[in-house]
Amino acid sequence: MTSDQATTVRELLAFYLEAGVDCALGDEPIDRLSTPDLARSDRPVATAAGIVPVAAVRQPPRQTATAAPRAGVAPPPDIAIESAREAARTAPSLEALRTLLESFDGCALKFTASRLVFADGNPQARLMFVGEAPGRDEDIAGLPFVGRSGQLLNRMIAAIGLKRSDVYIANVIPWRPPGNRTPTPQETQICLPFIRRQIELVNPDVLVTLGNPSTQTLLQTREGIKRIRGKWFDYDVGTRTIRAMATFHPAYLLRSPFDKRMAWLDLRAIARALEDGSTGR
Ligand code: URA
Repeated sequence: MTSDQATTVRELLAFYLEAGVDCALGDEPIDRLSTPDLARSDRPVATAAGIVPVAAVRQPPRQTATAAPRAGVAPPPDIAIESAREAARTAPSLEALRTLLESFDGCALKFTASRLVFADGNPQARLMFVGEAPGRDEDIAGLPFVGRSGQLLNRMIAAIGLKRSDVYIANVIPWRPPGNRTPTPQETQICLPFIRRQIELVNPDVLVTLGNPSTQTLLQTREGIKRIRGKWFDYDVGTRTIRAMATFHPAYLLRSPFDKRMAWLDLRAIARALEDGSTGR
């Protein structure tokens, strides 16, 4: 390679990095222009619902350089959502739910992520936090909230006299979206039955949603986080309701430190709810 070519490659890689393309999905490059459409191959697709012939599967979403499946193809969203509901319902424990997710092929994000990011902390915790989706650091570690925003979350937890190991932490989406892109509504709907079952199994006294996506998905609201944070909700798990509150996502607080004072008010309200035992358990 000439030094001009090396410079071009370096500049291209720098451009990719800035665009969020920061991981290689395979050892060999794939020429998408000459690769036959995956949906038209005769290869069957494994889903939690069983083996589905690809001929029965609709056209998958357009693949991009960052979203190409490493292996396997997810079924269409409606089939995946149905099999996610079916599968999540049957998980009798958190361990069973994790095992189930490990073998669930219904979400295309699984094929681009390095690993499942299931949860961290204490499964018997009275306080549970739910974020949106793992980022690069979490994808490497296999644990939620271990990067910069995770460090701030640790400090937020410490501010109310608790340790990370006292609480339970998970995400709505348990696989890193490539390049940290926003999960699609379909991906969110496919993962929703699993996080709902996870909340039900942990059965915390207080559930805290971090940021807009997790709040809007779990608390079923279209209100923005600035209007809705700090208010109590009833989160219904069927057999009981759990007190739930939305607060700012730590990644947002890193960008907007002025709003930490509002997050502090939320944390104090959460600590009071845990202390006064008015959570009904
Ligand atoms: N942001 C999230 O929403 N979740 C993580 O695990 C990390 C960053």
